[in-house]
Amino acid sequence: MNGNVLVRIDEKQYGPLSHTELRTLVRNGKFAPHDYIWLEDEGEWVPADQIKELDTLFRPVVQHESEKKIIAVGSGKGGVGKTVLSSSIGIGLAALGNEVVLVDADFGGANLHTCMGILEPQYTFLDYYTLQRESLEDILLDTPLNNLKLISGASGILGLANPKYSQKLKLVRELKKLNANYVIMDLGAGSSLSVIDFFIAVDEGILVTSPEPTAIQESFDFVKLCLLRKVQQAFRNEPEVLALLEVDGINSLSQFSAPVDQLLERAQKISSDIASSMEQIITSFRPRLILNSVMEPDEIKEGVAIKTAAAELLSIDIDYMGYVEYDEDVHESVKDLRPFIIHNPRSKAARSLARLITVKLLQKSSIEGFLEKRRMRKRISMTAKEYPSVENLESKTICSVKCFYWDDCEYQNGGHPCRIRHLESLFHS
Ligand SMILES: Nc1ncnc2c1ncn2[C@@H]1O[C@H](COP(=O)(O)OP(=O)(O)O)[C@@H](O)[C@H]1O
Ligand SMILES: [Mg+2]
Repeated sequence: MNGNVLVRIDEKQYGPLSHTELRTLVRNGKFAPHDYIWLEDEGEWVPADQIKELDTLFRPVVQHESEKKIIAVGSGKGGVGKTVLSSSIGIGLAALGNEVVLVDADFGGANLHTCMGILEPQYTFLDYYTLQRESLEDILLDTPLNNLKLISGASGILGLANPKYSQKLKLVRELKKLNANYVIMDLGAGSSLSVIDFFIAVDEGILVTSPEPTAIQESFDFVKLCLLRKVQQAFRNEPEVLALLEVDGINSLSQFSAPVDQLLERAQKISSDIASSMEQIITSFRPRLILNSVMEPDEIKEGVAIKTAAAELLSIDIDYMGYVEYDEDVHESVKDLRPFIIHNPRSKAARSLARLITVKLLQKSSIEGFLEKRRMRKRISMTAKEYPSVENLESKTICSVKCFYWDDCEYQNGGHPCRIRHLESLFHS
């Protein structure tokens, strides 16, 4: 169903209406699931609740802000598993009945849609900005799970605009308006402001790292920069405090190396009020940590090493959620364009992640967690049967003017399917 639609409410016909206008009617209670839509292809009126593309319009409304949580998944080093973990966490939470929206906020290398088996997203963030859509709901993509939606990323949009802190906060506020219990943002790697500002603005930040020494070092630097940026933003109107950080930009922030307790001592010299609010900002920053791609039991303690270093040098308490093993199944799942938790729910990695979701993220007790894990696996196994397989996806020709690469595509004249380009990012990461 594309473009504008004709609707029939109480035997009266209206339209053509855009998707946004239709959504407004639903929000205002003027258009109900039993009202009709004209389907041009069928040549007949069909009740709206029988049209799959419209099911986002009528999903149960998550009313209270307290029922909504935005989780950002970030990392210092690239290629450590943010995207594979985000997609599987999204599926796990949705399998337990939550309304979930996965958001590809890696504006430098958007590939979450590919990981979810969507080769040619109908909408991306670009549509939200360029077509000035009213709400992010208008660019939600369906996934094989009814209650899991996806916002596909578009490379370069935020980079182009070089958004201010306030603009990033605005996007987070828009995400908060989505009809979802959980919004999961898959961030880009590294310590640029476009990543850090999202990580500190959301309800919960999950840091992903692998056990390699470079990744551990970069994770620590990432946490340090997040903390300093948080302090910098909180005291942006206090020149004396900013002087303590000796900075006015992130490059200098990264050079700040004094332990945080010394920073607090210096703040105390300015005033005890400033010192106590700084202390509050520092203690309220509690990032979570997942150690991914663990090969040897010995590596598990690398997570504890970051936690200890952060406590001693930054005075913050990292919540080390646990680890996910290195598992060939994860590797296979990426090639099959299926999140690993659905590719093989019994794989080592899938079981470990299921435990982290139920016991750590949802904070279920051991017995409750055990039951939830079983429930999750059952629902995921049912969904797995309907999930599109890579063979189905590959047999479809996906060459299209809507493709990101259309303007500089080397393949279109030969009729070569441009899936090669779509998959590029997977092979380079
Ligand atoms: N637990 C794991 N076991 C095996 N391979 C993994 C695991 N986690 C990630 N990978 C591999 O690492 C690659 C990069 O993961 P990805 O999620 O794209 O990283 P990021 O989003 O952090 O850049 C994946 O394509 C996958 O092959
Ligand atoms: Mg990624």
